[in-house]
Amino acid sequence: MYLRKTILATGVALSALATASFAHAEPTAEVLHWWTSGGEAKAVAALKEDFEAKGGKWVDSPVAGGAGDAAMTVLRSRVLSGDAPAAVQLKGPAIQEWAEEGALADLNDVAAAENWDDVIPPAIQDVMKYEGDYVAVPVNIHRVDWIWANPTLLAKVGADSVPTTWDEFNALADKLQAAGITPVAHGGQPWQDATIFETVVLGLGGPEFYQEALVDLDDDALNSDTMKAVFDQMRKIRGYVDADFPGRDWNLATAMVMNGDAAMQIMGDWAKGEFLAAGKVPGKDFLCAPTPSENGYLFNTDSFAMFNVSGDDKIAGQKLLAELIVGEKFQETFNLLKGSIPARLGVPMDKFDDCAKKSEADLKSAQDAGGFLPSMAHGMALRGHLSGAIVDVVTAHFNSDMTSDEAVSRLVEAVELAKD
Ligand code: BGC
Repeated sequence: MYLRKTILATGVALSALATASFAHAEPTAEVLHWWTSGGEAKAVAALKEDFEAKGGKWVDSPVAGGAGDAAMTVLRSRVLSGDAPAAVQLKGPAIQEWAEEGALADLNDVAAAENWDDVIPPAIQDVMKYEGDYVAVPVNIHRVDWIWANPTLLAKVGADSVPTTWDEFNALADKLQAAGITPVAHGGQPWQDATIFETVVLGLGGPEFYQEALVDLDDDALNSDTMKAVFDQMRKIRGYVDADFPGRDWNLATAMVMNGDAAMQIMGDWAKGEFLAAGKVPGKDFLCAPTPSENGYLFNTDSFAMFNVSGDDKIAGQKLLAELIVGEKFQETFNLLKGSIPARLGVPMDKFDDCAKKSEADLKSAQDAGGFLPSMAHGMALRGHLSGAIVDVVTAHFNSDMTSDEAVSRLVEAVELAKD
């Protein structure tokens, strides 16, 4: 085990936040997160404000870096040195991994007091619980499979909407390129390559294929002509990005679409948070549409896990934060800024824009059609060593002249090795 176990049992059963044990403790929480872009910072500031308004002391520990790779490295070293932050942005199977290490505090008392079993959708409860105990709280539901487009640039080549098939996507991109417009804004970082890749897997293979290939890691699906076609499409997309793409942060790619330097970005709806933070209006200044697929929806739920810490003030801080996060008001305020939709059931959607309303409607239809699927690129589908094996191949292919045949055989091999 690469982690030192830091189980510090509180030994105190709490039924409400204001119990006598913590009456004098100032709720304090060090919050480790990676929300540092314009839209993200606005959203996390809303949480901080709520927390402080309830008497909490917020200790901010941001670690810049899209999708949280850098934050997870910091987390590992903090826990190893016996200095875990109280609250950590953590998601998907990583929650289970840390819980298995005995690193997470259980939140059952807050869950019972706040009726989480009734207000959190069962599929999300499963991610937040370890062996039946709540160890994390969900903030939102982000959708990953989106295209963000600049309508003025599309209009220059006679398009008034976002393509609905990958063939149309390529045809439009070719036209844009011929007109001297960069078709795709992209940042060459492994997680961004993987974000595009999984939308292509979903689109070309369909939801069932996505499930087999990127969730079940089925050999036949990985080693298939469909997967070859996915890499062919990735090669095409590689041809649609500008020369300066390597290493670019995702929000700078979003800014290219915003500023008319590129026509489209394939990115989760945290990109919408950037447009909104810059005062842009959906449907007018920018367009949102799902990447081409048949009833697919790749979800990515941000959440916070509370790590075992000692001190009444910190434990009170964790409980206050957990209660706030699942609260109806917070779920509305935060998600209006973040670009996502609430993870809590029953939050009114009337203040949300059309992109968010579409996300909610598509989520329901995808669920009915079996197309509601966890994002591999954003740590919802697989444990880190497995998704890491896939992402490495995707990036190696994107950044070289590797053939699709070669990429498929490397993918099969890498997954095989990682499974052992
Ligand atoms: C997170 C989002 C975040 C994005 C870019 C995703 O994995 O779920 O909350 O905005 O990465 O950092």
